[in-house]
Amino acid sequence: MSTRGIANIGVIGLAVMGSNLARNLASRPGNTVAVHNRTHARTQELLAAHPESGFVAAESIDAFVASLARPRTALIMVQAGAGTDAVIDQLAARFEPGDIIVDGGNANFQDTIAREQRLAHTGIHFVGAGISGGEEGALRGPSIMPGGSAESYETLGPILSSVAAVAEGEPCVTHVGTDGAGHFVKMIHNGIEYADMQLIGEAYDLLRTVGGLEPRAIAEVFAGWNTGPLESYLIEITAEVLHHVDPATDVPFIDVVLDQAGSKGTGVWTVQNALALGVPVSGIAEAVFARALSAQPAQRAAVRRTAASRPAPQTVGPAFVEDVAKALYASKVVAYAQGFDALTAGAEKYGWDIDKGRIAKIWRGGCIIRARFLDRIAEAYAENPGLSTLLEAPYFADAVADAQDAWRGIVATAALSGVPAPGFGSALSHYDALASHRLPAALVQAQRDFFGAHTYRRTDREGTFHTLWSGDRSEAVVE
Ligand code: 6PG
Repeated sequence: MSTRGIANIGVIGLAVMGSNLARNLASRPGNTVAVHNRTHARTQELLAAHPESGFVAAESIDAFVASLARPRTALIMVQAGAGTDAVIDQLAARFEPGDIIVDGGNANFQDTIAREQRLAHTGIHFVGAGISGGEEGALRGPSIMPGGSAESYETLGPILSSVAAVAEGEPCVTHVGTDGAGHFVKMIHNGIEYADMQLIGEAYDLLRTVGGLEPRAIAEVFAGWNTGPLESYLIEITAEVLHHVDPATDVPFIDVVLDQAGSKGTGVWTVQNALALGVPVSGIAEAVFARALSAQPAQRAAVRRTAASRPAPQTVGPAFVEDVAKALYASKVVAYAQGFDALTAGAEKYGWDIDKGRIAKIWRGGCIIRARFLDRIAEAYAENPGLSTLLEAPYFADAVADAQDAWRGIVATAALSGVPAPGFGSALSHYDALASHRLPAALVQAQRDFFGAHTYRRTDREGTFHTLWSGDRSEAVVE
């Protein structure tokens, strides 16, 4: 049987994410899905396990390309890195102008920009698409963040919309911007994911160490929070994890998991890029550092041995659980505000027209950071697209102000109890720094002028000045 040109989309790379996305695509009316994997046995396994998908299987890359209808659209779902380039080269050698190559992996957006440039002269569209939601999301509906040309989105938009999660009746996909914008936005999503997970971890630690609650009781607390303003996928799965009992030992599962967190790099990229853009994403940075610190067993053992006696947990009252919830909420507001600041700065630097309200909307469903909260962010940007920070939006300004006393109390309690809470603490410092009438940056700038003649500006008149510190300490006008 000839399979020439019948599939409107093809998927290359059939590990779990690729297979699940292919199955999701095939389950939607109007899609015929070609599939290809370097090892053909995996393709055959997928076909055998899911005959209902009606896949067009291709053993060779030539057969795969031949099975695609024009414009040919191929979604690459291989491990980010060198493998991606090899597949792009194979497709580019066979595709024609107008055809579309989509990289759905967690690529670095700078690589995506370079790859698009590399293909530009061929007329083939290269699209970097962030896809969030893990294995389950890929199968049931992820949040999708495609970049690339607007022209490619005319073909791609309906296909991606057919498989994306739906939130409030809207598919969680939008053309986020050109070239690497999709992977940039996915990177920021992951950075926020890191911060959110860290904050939840700190809340758990406080409830356990200071509040004295057992994992099962904390699971109930999180389940309760998941019915209010904190409602989110990460809160929901936290309740499930804490509820789980290890079948081998019959102790709470959380107590048999080694307390060292890994990472695959997107959090680090977010912080590196934010540093280069001059955007303080301290919540994301603290989350990255907290994972790194956890994975230093030798240092931890050494300081455990040499540290002074540990403080006893503070005594807390009945409002403690509610106060932790407020501190968590306020810290989350700051972490998301920082993530959106990085989006703004990236869009400006790379010339992307990123609609932050739309981004908040497509993160409401399917992705790891999906949360009730994102509706509020979308509303804030709809009301005022020019917000200088989310913290300025009336809803968030009020929410953070209301949480303030509890937030300060929790950060102080954590410090006095010896519970590390870098996420809560740095979020509060970020807020306080923005809210301060005067920052010690004045002193830092004066020091810079003292030892390096780096100049300063004055509060009372225009211009740039330098004090002759090693001379008569008179002031010179520099410009
Ligand atoms: C998603 C996740 C996904 C992946 C993270 C994990 O949006 O579906 O973010 O992309 O699980 O990259 O990142 P770490 O391994 O770095 O924690």
